[in-house]
Amino acid sequence: MGNNELIKKAKEHLALLIEEQFERIEIMKKETKWVDYGDLNPIIIGICWGDGIGKIISKHAERVLKHTLSEEIAAGLIEFRVIEGLTIENRVKHKKAIPSDVLEEIKKCHVILKGPTTTPQAGDNWPNIESANVAMRKELDLFANVRPVKIPSEGIDWCFFRENTEGAYVLGSRGIDVSDDLSLDFKVSTTQGADRIIRLAFEYAKKNGKKRVTVVTKANVIKKTDGKFSRIAKKIAEEYKEFGIKSDEWYIDIMTAKLLDPVRRKDFEVLVMPNLYGDILTDEAAQLQGGVGTAGSANIGKKWAMFEAIHGSAPRMVDEGRDIYADPSSMIRGASMLVRHIGFSKRADHLDMAFEICCQFEKKIVITGRADGATGEEFTTYLLAWAEDKDLEIKWRKMVNCK
Ligand code: IPM
Ligand code: MG
Repeated sequence: MGNNELIKKAKEHLALLIEEQFERIEIMKKETKWVDYGDLNPIIIGICWGDGIGKIISKHAERVLKHTLSEEIAAGLIEFRVIEGLTIENRVKHKKAIPSDVLEEIKKCHVILKGPTTTPQAGDNWPNIESANVAMRKELDLFANVRPVKIPSEGIDWCFFRENTEGAYVLGSRGIDVSDDLSLDFKVSTTQGADRIIRLAFEYAKKNGKKRVTVVTKANVIKKTDGKFSRIAKKIAEEYKEFGIKSDEWYIDIMTAKLLDPVRRKDFEVLVMPNLYGDILTDEAAQLQGGVGTAGSANIGKKWAMFEAIHGSAPRMVDEGRDIYADPSSMIRGASMLVRHIGFSKRADHLDMAFEICCQFEKKIVITGRADGATGEEFTTYLLAWAEDKDLEIKWRKMVNCK
């Protein structure tokens, strides 16, 4: 093919992508109301086990979830549904990130607890299909990826708001090899998409008494997409000044450095950023908290929400026979966020207290990811024993105060 032909093909491809994004914008413009979980009876929780260690750690999270919501389940207010088929084998069989019948089942639920799923890359043992996470975020329009990270001993209480449906991800599987020598990927930012995630971060700050929202971009270099994100953030920040919320902007490179600066880092509170920066930064933050195995992730949209670990399916752990030692904390954190999201914040607080006692204070049973540590099942039993303690809150207060 000659160059003119290649350019023509690339233009057609780009035109199609732009058309799709215009359609997306129209959908975003139509104001959809947020679902009110109080109106749902029953609330349906779907569970997808995932791949690799996901098959094990999501079972532990399910156990914790069912324990935490036992009264509501008994009263018929909450129903669980297992959704089989979100496995790499079945996805490969259908050559789809999420097979259509599985997606249909997922959409019949109100919230989803999802174990990590394998995301192939060219050259892996699997065909190079799109990530199930990314597909689910797109299909259910889960635009906010909320990832809290806490290190109480340092006074760190961060909440990351990662844009989840745009940036480098939205067209991640739609780039083109224009010729043998030239490949293009696309990064997208829309006014509506940036507005809704930034606003959510500021609203969170307002509702939770936070005084600072930090915006992370690389707007000095990525002038159009990050430039838009930055501009919209500045406009929204003006609206929230009257609530005593300050806003500042950092570039992603220096931000990754500052998360390692013990003097600076404790001052960050709420952070909001485009997709890929959020992906990278939240792994770094989770590592500071104790490892990626310790952090949960809420994917929030107006109609659906999905809760998961922030990490992947760790096939290496499975290959090395270490899957039973995988840390279920990230999934349990996700489960606690789910409980809070559907309106049972007291129960989520209770679970979080038990979790803090187990992981930060008492630490009687410790997971190392290897045979010298506890299994995920032993840890879960330990956690639930604390969750059942009648004096949990009193004991937790004592531990927090004496720290
Ligand atoms: C995450 C993960 C995913 C992402 C992968 C599995 C596609 O790293 O949830 O952070 O990049 O978003
Ligand atoms: Mg990630």
